[in-house]
Amino acid sequence: MYSDRIKELLSKMTLEDKLGQMTLLVPDFFDKENNVDLTGPFANLEFSEEEINSVGSILNSFSAEKNINIQKNYLEKSKHKIPLLIMADIIHGKSTIFPINLALGCSFNTEAMKTMAKTAALESSVSGIHLTYAPMVDLVRDPRWGRVAESTGEDPYLNSIMAVAAVEGYQGKDIKEYGNIASCCKHFASYGAPEGGRDYNTVDMSEGVLRDFYLPAYKACVDADVKMMMTAFNIFDRIPSGANTFLYNDILRKEWGFKGSVISDYAALDETMVHGFAKDAKEAAKAYLEAGCDIEMMSPHYLKSMKDIAANDEKYLKLIDESVLKVLHLKEELGLFDNPYKDANIEIEKNTLKSKENLQKALEVARQCIVLLQNNNNVLPLNPNMKVGLCGPFATSEDVIGTWAFEKGAISLSDSLKNSNIDITVAMNNELGSMQEKIFDVDIDYSEVSKLKDCDVILACVGENQEDTGEGASRANIRLSANQEAMIKNLKQLNKPVIVLLFSARPLELNPIINDVDAILQVWHLGTESGNAIKQVLFNEYNPSGRLSMSFPQTVGQIPVYYNHYNTGRPRTIEMRYVSRYLDCPNEPLYPFGYGLSYSNFEYSNLNVAVVGETIKASVKVKNTSEHKGIETVQCYIRDIKASVVRPVLELKAIEQVSIEANSEITVEFEITKEMLKFHNAKMEYVFESGEFDICVGKNSSEYLKETVSL
Ligand code: BGC
Repeated sequence: MYSDRIKELLSKMTLEDKLGQMTLLVPDFFDKENNVDLTGPFANLEFSEEEINSVGSILNSFSAEKNINIQKNYLEKSKHKIPLLIMADIIHGKSTIFPINLALGCSFNTEAMKTMAKTAALESSVSGIHLTYAPMVDLVRDPRWGRVAESTGEDPYLNSIMAVAAVEGYQGKDIKEYGNIASCCKHFASYGAPEGGRDYNTVDMSEGVLRDFYLPAYKACVDADVKMMMTAFNIFDRIPSGANTFLYNDILRKEWGFKGSVISDYAALDETMVHGFAKDAKEAAKAYLEAGCDIEMMSPHYLKSMKDIAANDEKYLKLIDESVLKVLHLKEELGLFDNPYKDANIEIEKNTLKSKENLQKALEVARQCIVLLQNNNNVLPLNPNMKVGLCGPFATSEDVIGTWAFEKGAISLSDSLKNSNIDITVAMNNELGSMQEKIFDVDIDYSEVSKLKDCDVILACVGENQEDTGEGASRANIRLSANQEAMIKNLKQLNKPVIVLLFSARPLELNPIINDVDAILQVWHLGTESGNAIKQVLFNEYNPSGRLSMSFPQTVGQIPVYYNHYNTGRPRTIEMRYVSRYLDCPNEPLYPFGYGLSYSNFEYSNLNVAVVGETIKASVKVKNTSEHKGIETVQCYIRDIKASVVRPVLELKAIEQVSIEANSEITVEFEITKEMLKFHNAKMEYVFESGEFDICVGKNSSEYLKETVSL
């Protein structure tokens, strides 16, 4: 698998050189003549020049000029002239920012995800970035966890196809080619299930649940030839995930045959000591190396502690060689030995970042991510001659680009409406502070309501500050802030249609406002083109097509609430005391997975299901009974009625997105193979078990037609 060039290189390297390749440092070491003002785990460490000049990779350096300089300075000093690998968190766009990933999941369109990844890869590569820490494919069920923003949601099938689209978009056919970058899937494994939705918290689940729900998207990345895997901060089965040999050696490498590199998450080796798993840095380094972690991110234990451990220990020397070969191989695959700057180019960068073409792509993707949740009396779409009242903290805000974006400034809704000559009146638009800064609400002068009295329709632009989403941004309360809810109630006195635009990065609890408003559009944090995308949906320049990739709870007390749960022995099929229920709340979510309205109206009929040979074939008629052409996402679910282990009440198996003309009907077909019906039995074998299956085809996970077949 490895070329002679890198084998020969390895043979010339000292142990110190090798440990350098297995270490990632901040870029400051290389572009400031080593005068770095360090905090955190590096603060008290003295690195020798030699150590620094042997380091293999850096993170989050974003411009061509900087990256060319860093690489040049580094290569001048480095002994073996092995180029630096420049990695970055390009999560939903580099300079042209696309919607957050949860919203991308709601497009239910893998092409949208691929467009994002391709555009991000091009912008990154011309800026000298070689690898992105994306996609994040952690399955999520708890909207209190801030990082749901980075995931495509609660479904293993949707997450898997989106993950593949992202990897293919970033990497293209060959990562060496112009405009492509390597992709790092994260966070292996099960980071998306922290107890109580609190970031970094304990994860505890059965192996069957791990394998059937949480692992498929990581596996899909491996099958799509993802080049790197990142460890997770959580423990799995009481062992820190990056040191977990069951996850890394048994599953990732042996079972799945992953040949790429593994990188620790940020300073995660330190955390093994805090968890009480490793006594000291040496034990931490040993544990990570034994589990097959090739690169240590932002902590220095390989570099500082491994020398003594490995010096006379063949076992560790061998593991180190294997890791270094993987790192060098990745650099070779990227073509860095022949051209260490790859596509970095200051001139081309100027014309590429935020180019007209890229912004147009971001707009086309962003509008597909908006989900119409409610539209009483068809108050939407709006007519461009209407007088539009805009209020709430996000009416004029440009801070709706989303978490993990290193560029600021989206086009605000008000600017976009102004550019289209819509008659707008703005009131009560103070921006919402951040809970990170201990600001829990926004000041609203409710007397300003009267400013909106002559408007035909009111857009209440509410949500959450983007700082309060993403990593380290868990919330115990997922309602809108009290003043935002009060503002919405205040609008009722105007007796005008009120449309809520929800700028959030997680499902929020909407029951407190739902009866006070006519329509709700979930607009997420949509990135650079936010205002333009929302405008297009409001005025029917784009008929909304987004579908929820995560269930919206009725109340925080229901969490976790997700569609593909197991049945209880006492489901709530009748109302009586001893059934599985809440006394004060339905079991179902407010809006289920797969849900989303359109300006069209789609009706389903004639579900035909038949077994043909080894497969199940299903067809359904979908009629657009409205005057609007629209996009429908036809969803095919199954239920495995009886098996050797309990199976979910419903599982998404396929989707078909179709555009249907006004007043016309089409037939949509699905094929379900035995492979698609496999699951892990009690012995963790991946098997198909014959029996009866419900085939459910419809609009979402709670509205569908159903037929039962035997296979
Ligand atoms: C996050 C990763 C990210 C890394 C590097 C960590 O805190 O968990 O997702 O890629 O930082 O920025």
